[in-house]
Amino acid sequence: MASIAVCPGSFDPVTYGHLDIITRASKVFDTVVVAVLNNQSKNPLFTVQERLDLLKEVTKDLKNVEVDYFNGLLIDYATEKKANAIVRGLRAVSDFEYELQIASMNRKINEDVETFFIMTNNKYSFLSSSIVREIAKYNGPVTDLVPCAVEKALKDKFGYPRD
Ligand code: PNS
Repeated sequence: MASIAVCPGSFDPVTYGHLDIITRASKVFDTVVVAVLNNQSKNPLFTVQERLDLLKEVTKDLKNVEVDYFNGLLIDYATEKKANAIVRGLRAVSDFEYELQIASMNRKINEDVETFFIMTNNKYSFLSSSIVREIAKYNGPVTDLVPCAVEKALKDKFGYPRD
């Protein structure tokens, strides 16, 4: 049976930390579906379409990676995609409790979908989309934190020239 993993998140925007996890997952699973949560209650910087476009751009060389979005419960989406795995990156102990809660609840709803955690590369352990948004808002340096296409999109979003 082919292994299908869903790699969910807000990706607002995708960072090198995300890309590292997606790339490593793509070496383990036959197909990786990167799934953007279409969450109306949050106030995202990028629209779902913008986040999808950026994800497609930065994963274009990963042939077994698809990009999609979902509404509602992650486990329902994973079941609909016939996925047998959910992949999440784990940065620090602070991530653990939240991730354990979600993984446990997802498993309670559907025990056929297993959650796997990939330890974030040390060089990205401090990195998050919210930190990137904060730095980019004041035109700070994000070159080492996000792919080039994302850096350009951040500059456009905050009205800074693209150098
Ligand atoms: O990048 P994020 O914001 O840490 O991703 C969180 C995400 C999207 C994985 C999580 O919020 C999620 O799965 N949301 C969908 C709703 C859901 O299934 N919640 C868990 C119920 S136990």
